[in-house]
Amino acid sequence: MFRYSLRGRGDPTEWRDAARAFMLAGIEPDIIDWRTMDDADGLFGFDDNRLPEPSPLCNKPIVSSAFVRLAEAVLCHSDPTRFALLYRMLFRISFGRRLLQDASDPDVVAANRMAKSVGRDYHKMTAFVRFKELPLPEGTVGRRRFIAWFEPDHFIVKRVAPFFQRRFTDMDWLILTPKGSASWDGEELRTTDDPAEKPDLRDETDELWRTYYASIFNPARLKVKMMTKEMPKKYWKNLPEAELIPSLIANAEASVLEMAAKQASEPLPFHHRIQEAAAKVPAAPRAASGTLEGLREEARSCTRCDIYCRATQTVFGEGPANAATMIIGEQPGDQEDLAGKPFVGPAGQLFNTTLKEVGIDRHSLYVTNAVKHFKYEPRGKRRIHQKPNMGEVRQCRWWLTREIELVKPKLVVAMGATALFALTDMRQKLEDVRSEPIAMEDGRTLFVTVHPSYLLRIPDEGRKREELLRFRDDMAAVQRLM
Ligand code: URA
Repeated sequence: MFRYSLRGRGDPTEWRDAARAFMLAGIEPDIIDWRTMDDADGLFGFDDNRLPEPSPLCNKPIVSSAFVRLAEAVLCHSDPTRFALLYRMLFRISFGRRLLQDASDPDVVAANRMAKSVGRDYHKMTAFVRFKELPLPEGTVGRRRFIAWFEPDHFIVKRVAPFFQRRFTDMDWLILTPKGSASWDGEELRTTDDPAEKPDLRDETDELWRTYYASIFNPARLKVKMMTKEMPKKYWKNLPEAELIPSLIANAEASVLEMAAKQASEPLPFHHRIQEAAAKVPAAPRAASGTLEGLREEARSCTRCDIYCRATQTVFGEGPANAATMIIGEQPGDQEDLAGKPFVGPAGQLFNTTLKEVGIDRHSLYVTNAVKHFKYEPRGKRRIHQKPNMGEVRQCRWWLTREIELVKPKLVVAMGATALFALTDMRQKLEDVRSEPIAMEDGRTLFVTVHPSYLLRIPDEGRKREELLRFRDDMAAVQRLM
């Protein structure tokens, strides 16, 4: 009997070198006892951890790239039988068997199952790692630093580390796990096998995740089984947003009823609105003209473009008439249209939380939109947001310009490309002008960032995380400018 022990931490070279030596000595699979440092007999390694001498009768094993790929995945699995399984397969392949093509062979089935489980673990790690920013030491400047904790099922840290390097190349990061750790400093990707201790990572970023999760949670689409399959419960303890799941599920039915009640208040059909508007004799404004209140009243009967026909009402700006900072979005959404107030729907919730996190009081801001009516396309009972076109934005600019003249903000924040176009008449890439204060001709300061709805729509979890943090940084810069 041969006994051979490996570290068994997902490094394919240690098994490959040992397997090659056993093959070159013609050793049968049944007489090798493979062990790892985790095995029950405790201490790492056998005293006689030696490989056999090669036999002149045996050749170097030749395998397909498909077997190499399969073996690399299987070696990351935590099942202690993986080394024996792979050696048995290697041995059988060396006798000319086209083993991998026999999908019903018990060894192939077992290896494919392990590879699939490793693939799933890899995917979950890319989706569920939550980075927390570590402040730089007082008085120092440098790259931003992040830390994360994750608990993988298998030894996948080395395998998945290059993904994080590509994705988060601009920041320094450290991912700790009980099965090894990975770090990146902009130059070198380092990995270690050593188990790490779970650090205490709770901070205010958790709140941002919870708000984001609550705003994308759609109770009408709730399928608990499906949800727990995508986000298995074992990951919940390390996901800040998971705290919300039980109460969101419990309240789902009530929320669906509430959503249905809101849907009942659909706007009047298109032609009724046109007839109504044509017949309307404008009422004399009650508030003095030349004031913000007067302008708001005037805007109620705005027909400057066609969007008003389908919208429930004008959604005018809101906030102190002498606010020093004005925030400009794109146009009201479904919930704003029904409520008659800007930023009260999902994008508004994300906006509010971010303001809180950076210490801005929303009541001190004047919040408005480039376009004052909700443009949408009816689809069944649903109203699907449609971007206003340039002509509509130009028409509505009349109101925005009056609002700016009356409120006289020192700082104007454009959230998204539509707001930027409304203010400058220029179609620029947001990235080219984002995050820096820009001096405007009228003496005001313009600051450009993304629209919160854009953040809610990013499909890729990793990118979304990055973008949420960037948006928070932008709002922190707004706070400083204020
Ligand atoms: N999006 C906007 O641009 N404005 C709102 O008021 C709501 C969503």
